[in-house]
Amino acid sequence: MKILVTGGAGYIGSHLVDRLLGRGDEVFAIDNLSTGKIANIQPHLESDQFHLLNDTILNESLIDHLVARVDLVFHLAALVGVKHVVADPLGAIKTNVTGTEGVLGAAFKYWKKVVLASSSEIYGKSAKIPFHEEDDRVLGPTNVGRWSYSTSKAIDEHFAFAYSAKGLPIAVVRYFNSYGPRLDERGYGSVVANFVRQALKGEPITVHGDGLQSRCFTYIDDTVDGTLLAGEVKAGEGLVFNIGSNAETTILDLGVAIKRLTGSRSEIIRVPYREYYGEGFEDTRRRVPSIDRAKKILGFTPKVKLEEGLMRTIAWCRDHYGN
Ligand SMILES: NC(=O)c1ccc[n+]([C@@H]2O[C@H](COP(=O)([O-])OP(=O)(O)OC[C@H]3O[C@@H](n4cnc5c(N)ncnc54)[C@H](O)[C@@H]3O)[C@@H](O)[C@H]2O)c1
Repeated sequence: MKILVTGGAGYIGSHLVDRLLGRGDEVFAIDNLSTGKIANIQPHLESDQFHLLNDTILNESLIDHLVARVDLVFHLAALVGVKHVVADPLGAIKTNVTGTEGVLGAAFKYWKKVVLASSSEIYGKSAKIPFHEEDDRVLGPTNVGRWSYSTSKAIDEHFAFAYSAKGLPIAVVRYFNSYGPRLDERGYGSVVANFVRQALKGEPITVHGDGLQSRCFTYIDDTVDGTLLAGEVKAGEGLVFNIGSNAETTILDLGVAIKRLTGSRSEIIRVPYREYYGEGFEDTRRRVPSIDRAKKILGFTPKVKLEEGLMRTIAWCRDHYGN
């Protein structure tokens, strides 16, 4: 197949590109390299089957041209993560809303299937655990910048459902805290990347708040499995899927595990949220997906246990963070 991956030089995008090329697809990747990196896709640059367009998804004529050429679109390009969105709220809305509108509009014009990358942030601070795809969203006020990421992804999903109602094949994947090789240590605040960097450098491992907030960390191979299945399974069209592990880990326990697995002497310290995000930051206490629907319809099962995934990630970080 010919496949377009927007955000193809990013963390998840580049792993998806690896898998698509590995199974024999021809891949077009568009990425403005804002958070994506050439290093992520370096091994493919010489391949006849891989085409990198260093440009923005806001370039409508290029998106039109690319979508016309391919059989399937994975739309991952976005200004990602709460910290980036808080720092550049306008840029985030433009990329995440206007950009997605353009990609979906082109897909509708040429009638191409789209897999849209959404986020567990959609659920906001809902306390109803686990999160089911049809659950209510619970968000804070609009003057709290962090909620604009959730809202921008929700608008993307509304666009997707609107086109889906017109018959366009679309599946939405809501990722839950993906981690693995190529996580950017200076990136948008992936807690795994931060802790591993701190542990390898012997710096304090900084846990925000009391550390008892929890997440379900999902190894990148499982994230990509779910994404590919959403692209393949016809019964998944018109639906949204939680793609993640359902094994819950507190941030404090994550810090302890990373300290142990790296053999680090770093101390684990607690830092108030306001020192990192400023006043008024609201966190989500627990974030646990129900993956029943993804299991039943897509045949998705996360396979990599946290300890194994962390060991693989740490091995990569040792080679790449210069420690
Ligand atoms: N990593 C996670 O745990 C996670 C969780 C929830 C959702 N997501 C979603 O998954 C997708 C991929 O995220 P990621 O974690 O790989 O982050 P990432 O920052 O590595 O990937 C995003 C990519 O999009 C590119 N990009 C940004 N703006 C662009 C633009 N205007 N035009 C072209 N390219 C642009 C960036 O350069 C980057 O390569 C995003 O849509 C994100 O919202 C990720």
